[in-house]
Amino acid sequence: MRIVIEPDAAAVHRRAAARIAALIRRRPACVLGLPTGRTPLALYRELERLHREEGLDFSSVVTFNLDEYVGLAPDHPESFSSYMRRNLFERVNIDPAHTHVPRGDAPDLAAECEAYERAIREAGGIDLQVLGIGVTGHIAFNEPGSSLGSRTRVKTLTRASLEAGAAHPGATPDRPRLAITMGVATILAARACLLLATGREKAATLRDAVEGPITAQVPATALQLHADVTVIIDEPAASGLVRREYYIEMEQAQRRLESGGR
Ligand code: GLP
Repeated sequence: MRIVIEPDAAAVHRRAAARIAALIRRRPACVLGLPTGRTPLALYRELERLHREEGLDFSSVVTFNLDEYVGLAPDHPESFSSYMRRNLFERVNIDPAHTHVPRGDAPDLAAECEAYERAIREAGGIDLQVLGIGVTGHIAFNEPGSSLGSRTRVKTLTRASLEAGAAHPGATPDRPRLAITMGVATILAARACLLLATGREKAATLRDAVEGPITAQVPATALQLHADVTVIIDEPAASGLVRREYYIEMEQAQRRLESGGR
């Protein structure tokens, strides 16, 4: 794992956006896996800025979102579909036909999950999966106890996720209790993963995810099995890491290597 510790949240989002922009420039038809939540909001703002000011071209980019609430149609204001349109898709020149979010209102949920996995495969797989982390150590809606071999399926949300969702501005009290989510194995099948976390409230979870033993009780620990994971976090989120100093040295050495030095 490459652990990048930035001084503050703004720097985390700038760095993450720069990584995504570099991929889009190198591979205009790349496939991105995208998260929702509060963490990526500033990342999406920065991508919008890069599009507006530096001509970052999303016209061939393909996206797959991690999850969606069961029962919510794409045009429901609290659906992740609406979130994505509001916060990114309508702000850049992406082709709506290239964007994918599971249909929470699908009549046959199992068929929808299978179709989602198939669509990812047919797109050639995900090049870069961007992830946030929930306070219980979940990625997407792979709640504690999720099989590390899981694929896209319906999950029951934990009380913690329900409460976190309810704290979102505009959330209604009758938020759905189920979600369609990419599985842990779906996420691990991406060619590269980018995990973002900011704020002290993520420090303990992040320590468990990065330094704890691999366990389905903390699904984010499965990322330790992936050969290309970059974790970009701010100082408060890094404050619980036992090997914090080493990660800083490692990153300095890595940057020296990348600029041709030793
Ligand atoms: C939800 C989402 C996750 C997200 C997590 C953290 O559980 N399904 O994809 O990473 O919330 O959200 P936040 O960034 O708001 O802390």
